[in-house]
Amino acid sequence: MIITTINYIASPTGAKFHASNKVVRGVLGPVGNGKSVMCINEIHRLAVLQEPNSDGIRKTKWGIFRNTYDQLESTTLATFKQWLPWDVCSITMKPIRGMIKYPLADGTTVEALCMFVSVDRPDDVKKLLSLELTGVFLNEARELPYALVKAARERIGRYPSQIDGYTDVYDNNGELTYSAPKELDSSGNVTFNKDGTPKYKPCTRKALLMDTNPPEDDHWWYQLAEDGCLKSNKSAEAKRAVTEIFDFFRGPAPFLKEGDNYIDNPLAENIKFLPGGYKYYRDMLAGNSEDHINVMIMGNYGTIKDGKPVYPQYNDRIHCPEKPLKILEDLPIGLGWDGGLTPTCIIGQQTERGQLRIIAEMVSEDMGVRQFARDIVKPFLQRNFYGMKIAFSYIDPAGAGRGEAEAKSAMNILNDEYIEYNEDGESVLNEDGDILQPLNMGFETEKAPTNDPTRRIDAVNSYLIKMVEGEPGYLVSRSCPMIRKGKIGGYQYKRMQMSGEERYKDKPDKNKYSHPADAEQYLVLGFMGGYVVDSSDDYDDDFDDYEDVGVMGY
Ligand SMILES: Nc1ncnc2c1ncn2[C@@H]1O[C@H](COP(=O)(O)OP(=O)(O)O)[C@@H](O)[C@H]1O
Ligand SMILES: [Mg+2]
Repeated sequence: MIITTINYIASPTGAKFHASNKVVRGVLGPVGNGKSVMCINEIHRLAVLQEPNSDGIRKTKWGIFRNTYDQLESTTLATFKQWLPWDVCSITMKPIRGMIKYPLADGTTVEALCMFVSVDRPDDVKKLLSLELTGVFLNEARELPYALVKAARERIGRYPSQIDGYTDVYDNNGELTYSAPKELDSSGNVTFNKDGTPKYKPCTRKALLMDTNPPEDDHWWYQLAEDGCLKSNKSAEAKRAVTEIFDFFRGPAPFLKEGDNYIDNPLAENIKFLPGGYKYYRDMLAGNSEDHINVMIMGNYGTIKDGKPVYPQYNDRIHCPEKPLKILEDLPIGLGWDGGLTPTCIIGQQTERGQLRIIAEMVSEDMGVRQFARDIVKPFLQRNFYGMKIAFSYIDPAGAGRGEAEAKSAMNILNDEYIEYNEDGESVLNEDGDILQPLNMGFETEKAPTNDPTRRIDAVNSYLIKMVEGEPGYLVSRSCPMIRKGKIGGYQYKRMQMSGEERYKDKPDKNKYSHPADAEQYLVLGFMGGYVVDSSDDYDDDFDDYEDVGVMGY
């Protein structure tokens, strides 16, 4: 059988990227720089490098992540197929799986399973990150939460497995078909070759590969690559760990800027592989905003403000008073949550006259819902709202989960419905070996009545446009920067790449502002519905069919 030869010659940045011996490697640069190609070829290179097992098979398993399924299919998978054609890698869809499989000249076989997952399908992410992997590729990492980096680091280097010597065999769908402990003797010990080497070959090299167009300068990537640590942990220890584990690379810009002119950069990379060479970028200069050029073409950190704000009615001067909002002690508070990888909780109040006041936001990028509720939200509630009533607590109805995943959904975690007990009545340990103490939040979190984005946005808008006795119907406290920046424009409809006319996507872009914005919408739906003071008795929580929103009078 003749196998396609893959003619990959790395760019200078690519060569450094491949040569690094760090566990986590990230490459940032202009669009079209060859970043994704670098990562895909690195997966392939490491797959070939894996030591063969006693059957002569070089087995590895990879997780490839992208923010949306659309992008995963149209971009990540397309580039992957371009470099690993059908005779090297067979692809199956739904879920997307690639199996790199072909014989090498030395008689061994490469067998690398690549599992493609998009973050807009949280269950798939959870499932994949419960598997043992050789490595992970985070494609367009600026669109992905830091929680994925953290989780990925815990899952890599585990396949082929280190400890138990089992060779798990997965079919193309990533399902375990059988487990063959053939390298173990009957007592479960690793067996040895004649020369005394163990038959079993664990993971030769683990890797977390990341590529991205430049993010904003407060993004986790920026913090790690430029400041050498996360804002949330600046200890010397943390800095040392980052230096030891992470390596960041940056591709050069296609142009040098002299005054207002863009001159071809002789050190630019990948130019000859782009249609039209430098012209590929020069054409982009014409149709794009300054921000877009700065970030996407010149490869600088920065914000691209060419989306359309979801809430054009928001006026920062009117809706965000100079001083942080006071908590009105005789009014109950409402809570809105978004689960997922960046757990968020927004707290608000509504006055008797119907003024909505967003008084607090809590957002986390690096912890799960349980830890977030226990270590951040609960102490915050106790500190600031002690003795006050909670009218309702609402969460994304989709994230509330159904069927099998239900037991561990964010809502059930918040409601302590996830605890499993053994026969002796002792609670079962969680994955980290800790006993799960009940959260005892003190209130029940329910599904928000609708998940329809248009309805949710309309609900917030109805407060933004009204006046209440000469005051705005909506106020956000200065202590809520994510909600505020999101309203100013961070929460936006993305512009579609189309020449000439202005067109925008019809659903808000998923970014770091969208999670707080989602949580705020669930909160607002609660107030729209007209809360009752004690949600546990009177509140009609029978929203199983949340398309039916009649109950909310909405
Ligand atoms: N080393 C290379 N050799 C040949 N073509 C390349 C190489 N690196 C990238 N390309 C091509 O250049 C284009 C852009 O590469 P890509 O990795 O998608 O860029 P980025 O991810 O930086 O936007 C693709 O068509 C890709 O196949
Ligand atoms: Mg890319």
